[in-house]
Amino acid sequence: MNYTLAKRISRLGTETAYAVSESASKLAMKGKKIYPFHLGDINLPTPFHIIEAMNKAIKDGKTGYTPAAGILPLRQAVADYIGQARGVKYNVDNVVIHPGGKPVIGKFLQVVMEEGDAVLYPNPGYPIYESQIEYFGGLALPYQYIPTKTGFKIDREQVENYVKKHKPTVLIYNNYQNPLGAESDDDEMNWIAKITIENNMLVLSDEAYFDVRYSGQAKSIVSIPGMQERTMILHTFSKTFAMTGWRLGASIGPAEINNAIAKINTNDEACTTHFIQYAGIAAIQGDREPTRQIMNTLRDRRDVLVNGLNSIPGISVPVPNTTFYLFVDITAIYNKLGSKSLEDFRMKTLEATGVSFCTREHFGKTLPGETRKFIRFAYSGINVDQIQEGLAVLKKFWM
Ligand SMILES: Cc1ncc(COP(=O)(O)O)c(C=O)c1O
Repeated sequence: MNYTLAKRISRLGTETAYAVSESASKLAMKGKKIYPFHLGDINLPTPFHIIEAMNKAIKDGKTGYTPAAGILPLRQAVADYIGQARGVKYNVDNVVIHPGGKPVIGKFLQVVMEEGDAVLYPNPGYPIYESQIEYFGGLALPYQYIPTKTGFKIDREQVENYVKKHKPTVLIYNNYQNPLGAESDDDEMNWIAKITIENNMLVLSDEAYFDVRYSGQAKSIVSIPGMQERTMILHTFSKTFAMTGWRLGASIGPAEINNAIAKINTNDEACTTHFIQYAGIAAIQGDREPTRQIMNTLRDRRDVLVNGLNSIPGISVPVPNTTFYLFVDITAIYNKLGSKSLEDFRMKTLEATGVSFCTREHFGKTLPGETRKFIRFAYSGINVDQIQEGLAVLKKFWM
């Protein structure tokens, strides 16, 4: 049969990080020991009280459709939980439930972005932003971060130039950033608020890692006056509660936008799985000790990995206070190994050591003028003893 795929499909991107998993699996099948630093997944169990809540919900017959926006008790719980931690007030009309945080990106853009509208998004960043902006016909404007001794800072001049030239209507902001582990200080966050208010822009605040913090208080841009009414928060249960495969998230923001988003739910998935929504209530309202333990485990891994990497000549990484990623400048080793490309560097290292990681190229298109070479280590899917072992083989190969 002869057919052609719709043209729009050529604009749809993907998470090329899955190809990294595949190359690691292929090597593992040949008997190579793999040290998985490529996964943004968590190898820790979902807290038991959440599993029990789901079992109970199934037994209680919570197996039918729900409203497209989600069940009211979960929407209320999310409104309270998100509002309280951010110092603002939300009600049920501000909350729509989704199968994960990821769907919020495309749905939000479909509702607020006209074809041809310019949208600012972080690059390197979560690759779905670029994919969805382009898929729905927007002009994707990648803004970058500048490495400093204490972490990555947004290139403000670049954003200001884009604003002048393209008049973007939306800015995507991922504070507590994947893959950089970056976080804004007050000055940076106030500056984003100012520029979006002055230019009448909407903000998609991807807060997937808001609760993945090792010390201090997290802060959301919605707490700045004038921001709550122009910001949609992407929230997910995936990371904080080790629930990546459950698929549970929410959009929290202006009711009018969320009503339209719920209409997309009706047209797409109909609703998020009924009994999973009950598990979400248990996650939010239940015992927080298991999540504290998850954070303690992640902190131990972070410290071992940062110390180990910093003991390798040519590498210097600051200790991020958030996420479970390290974005590492490996330019010196890249050159020393005579690498032809980042993919060549990744494969050479993987084949020689079994250490598997993503590179900068998995987080949006590489931009002109990028000279330094970066790779990302995720420590959410690998235990401390394996981190230590992996670092030892890596060190031997790279030195
Ligand atoms: C920055 C960021 N946003 C959103 C998501 C989506 O998470 P999920 O769809 O599992 O809720 C992820 C997952 O890795 C992420 O890193």
